[in-house]
Amino acid sequence: MRCVVTLSARLAAAVLATSMLGVIAHAAETKLTLHGRVLAPSGKALPGARVHIYTAQPRTGIGAACPSCYPECAKSAVTDRAGRYTIPGLGDHLLYRVLFVAEGRVPEFRDRVDPLAGLLDQTLRVRDTTLAPGLRTLVGHVVDPQGQPVAGATVTPVGIHVGDGMMFGSVHEINARIDPVVVSDGNGEFRLTGPDSVRAWVLRVNARGLSPKAFPEVDAGPAGALLKLDTGNTVTGLLLRDGVPVPGAPICIDQVERDAMSYTRLDTVATDDRGRFTFVNVPAGQDYAFASVIGSLGPWALRTVLRTAGEDDSTTMLPPLQLERGFRLSGKIVLSARQSGRPDLRHAKRLVQPVVDNIMKNEYSIVGLTALKDHDEYTYAHCVNVSVLSIGIGQTLGLPRQVLADLGVAALLHDVGKIAVPGDVLRKPGKLTPDEWGVVRRHPIEGVRMMTRMPGITSLTLDTMRVCLEHHMNFDRTGYPEVAGDWGQSPLARIVAVADCFDAITAHRAYHARPRSAFEGLQYMLGPARVSFDPAALWGLVRTVGLYPAGTVVETDSHHVVLVLGPNPQDVVRPHVRVLVRPDGTAPPPDQPEEWNPMPRSRSVTRVIRPEEVTVDTAEQLAA
Ligand SMILES: [Fe+2]
Ligand SMILES: [Fe+2]
Repeated sequence: MRCVVTLSARLAAAVLATSMLGVIAHAAETKLTLHGRVLAPSGKALPGARVHIYTAQPRTGIGAACPSCYPECAKSAVTDRAGRYTIPGLGDHLLYRVLFVAEGRVPEFRDRVDPLAGLLDQTLRVRDTTLAPGLRTLVGHVVDPQGQPVAGATVTPVGIHVGDGMMFGSVHEINARIDPVVVSDGNGEFRLTGPDSVRAWVLRVNARGLSPKAFPEVDAGPAGALLKLDTGNTVTGLLLRDGVPVPGAPICIDQVERDAMSYTRLDTVATDDRGRFTFVNVPAGQDYAFASVIGSLGPWALRTVLRTAGEDDSTTMLPPLQLERGFRLSGKIVLSARQSGRPDLRHAKRLVQPVVDNIMKNEYSIVGLTALKDHDEYTYAHCVNVSVLSIGIGQTLGLPRQVLADLGVAALLHDVGKIAVPGDVLRKPGKLTPDEWGVVRRHPIEGVRMMTRMPGITSLTLDTMRVCLEHHMNFDRTGYPEVAGDWGQSPLARIVAVADCFDAITAHRAYHARPRSAFEGLQYMLGPARVSFDPAALWGLVRTVGLYPAGTVVETDSHHVVLVLGPNPQDVVRPHVRVLVRPDGTAPPPDQPEEWNPMPRSRSVTRVIRPEEVTVDTAEQLAA
């Protein structure tokens, strides 16, 4: 796997390039009129429909006002008997987002509407209230702080609660039967449809002139939902260079807490002709970072400022922001497979490959590894990973070569019992039903059953059976299957259990918003999940993948930002690294990379830079 990483966190202040972007001053402007008709799909006129100017944006560049702060944004019209509407007094330098709403119809937005482009007709479909089996609709209302209905609010599901579990991300992509976004009508009412297995919704609501808000658990039941929005705080500031206001410079606001339950706000405005900038409807009481846009300030840079937004209906003044001389740094970081965050286990892979080949060809094919590959590609790939990782752990624990070979085979077959689990259950993104879970929990026993098909009994067959049976039993005996007496995990099963968990939680699966990084996987296994694992096997994992696995970006006490290339088995806190950014903000030239093999004793890691602070080019990653 190759991936391209562009550092955005600390570099954001340091990485600078081209010229100013700002767009503000506007000389004499012509006023335009937007008109058109609102129709049923049949072509029949819809009288009494409302047409709202929702937000606006400059034709080019970034506006100095928030998208809904232009005077035009208050304008709306009602269609006449012929379905016609007219909205006069629109500026010619703006493009508009227009909302169409009519009783009993699905509201629609039109983006980048240009009044110069002529008539704007819109059809509105009848809102279908009949439901397919297995679906149900949440009927809710969006209201303002006074309890008045809010029309045209967008309600976006960003997560679902199913059973005891929950899922974040674009839930529509996970389940196409979930509405991707719905809009409240003239009474503030919205209808959100999804599978009846959804117990509660995580909703994000945006409305013009009110602060965006996330609702972490909205009951999906028939009682309906009342979603109340606040006006939010106004945050304003001044941008200076050598004491002189800087007009036309883009400033970003970004919420510091990036939890999917509360993240709502990322925006950019340009400073006005007096160097001032204003963000309105900022959710109160949250912490925000204010920064410049990379490459927008020529040779100048702005240090990121953190500030908590004040109360609703009040204004927070930032201290004047001073530009400083910046550094210029460009280029991209390309991670090879060795540095992609997966452990470097080439040696172990060399050991496993012949094992895989043999098992595919000879007597073990009876057990069904080939069938497993056909049944579920992910489980097969997972088994190969677990085998490689188990051998790596076994090596660090000093197991003899013959035991390592047996461990590799046993680990490769640990999940072979999953052939007995239907593919759609294995691939199901949501929480499993109790019945489905019961089937999944049988896979250790099914694995043993398959191993009994092996002709004759060897110590390898017995080792593999035990690994199949015991890899989910857990060191503290909290797992499954439940066994009587003092039965515990065999030494090989303890190693496989550690490798199994690490691979599963760091794997790329379609329904993870993002997989845990290798570092986060270790944090979890060494933290809350620690009691489930044999301490020796866990330590073997740390030594194998490194405390800071390859691909982790860390900051040192010397203020270097460095990329971990690989573990240092002699000293897990000092991995092999490459310098990305020096303390003065410069980067080593690409033809003279600076590597510490390993990190010197005089330096130590002070901070792991979270994946959110590092922008990963996912398109590139997927294409690779
Ligand atoms: Fe398993
Ligand atoms: Fe597994």
